[in-house]
Amino acid sequence: MAIQAEGLRKRYEQTEALGGVDLEVPGGTVLGLLGPNGAGKTTTVRMLATLLEPDGGRAEVAGFDVVRQPREVRRRIGLAGQYAAVDEHLTGRENLVLIGTLLHLGRRSARERAESLLDRFDLTGAGDRPVRTYSGGMRRRLDLAACLVATPSVLFLDEPTTGLDPVSRMGLWNVVRELVADGMTVLLTTQYLEEADFLADRITVIDSGRVIADGTPDELKRKVGEERLEVSVARLDGVAAAVTALRAVSADEPSVDADGLISIALGDGMGGLATAAVALREQGVEVADFALRRPTLDDVFVTLTGKST
Ligand SMILES: Nc1ncnc2c1ncn2[C@@H]1O[C@H](COP(=O)(O)OP(=O)(O)OP(=O)(O)O)[C@@H](O)[C@H]1O
Ligand SMILES: [Mg+2]
Repeated sequence: MAIQAEGLRKRYEQTEALGGVDLEVPGGTVLGLLGPNGAGKTTTVRMLATLLEPDGGRAEVAGFDVVRQPREVRRRIGLAGQYAAVDEHLTGRENLVLIGTLLHLGRRSARERAESLLDRFDLTGAGDRPVRTYSGGMRRRLDLAACLVATPSVLFLDEPTTGLDPVSRMGLWNVVRELVADGMTVLLTTQYLEEADFLADRITVIDSGRVIADGTPDELKRKVGEERLEVSVARLDGVAAAVTALRAVSADEPSVDADGLISIALGDGMGGLATAAVALREQGVEVADFALRRPTLDDVFVTLTGKST
């Protein structure tokens, strides 16, 4: 396990921010930590990154205890916080070189590292501009680059793509994927469930400081509901025949809404789709639309927390 936490607790005066959180992240995988605002995501990340002492419980990151061996932990982690932490008055290149120098990489290696990171994050052209002239997306990229100067084995990303446009977000996702392919372990928090779906091997959902669900994205979706086939027919007088056809392949009684849209639980996944298509044709039903609807992580989130994203 690259990250292992047991019973992490934290209280701020009257607020119990974390009421005993367990986490496990195998090396070289991505854990998505999801939860509504105030759930305790940032608090968890800050404790694992040794910036905040837990009131109770224990955690190991990269094999070291976050309370007893914080220096060992810090040497092996990178943290991109919820708000970018780069120096506004320095250029992008200067920021990266400065970090390298602080890490005692040596002048030459610090410069080389800065160049390769600027290149990787598509910032070479902006490298000599002060960061205060950067857009939000450029700052985010520089912030992530800054975390990687030290080549950490565990990376914490607290809402890494909040405020980014879809193209920048996709670019950042691809970088994270490359890092993981190279063996890095990532814990990321996010408000974007498609981000967790795309990046995370496993997801832990927390609410009010407690873990309320845990599993792969597919497992969580399956918990909320199964795949459903939705069929609409070309003419309303075909509904009855369609229901008859679909009843034979459905796990439950087909439901029909006011617009004549028929929905069935598809027990057998893709196999069920083929059977349903054949059954409709045999009944002579003219189909206008035939769609597989899978539960999304948004459905999971709403079902679990009662809050929408
Ligand atoms: N420094 C602090 N002092 C007092 N209360 C705090 C402090 N930091 C966090 N909290 C409270 O602890 C709880 C968890 O906060 P945390 O920042 O971990 O949530 P989060 O899941 O990161 O939320 P968000 O999605 O808004 O970033 C919240 O109720 C918050 O108000
Ligand atoms: Mg937060």
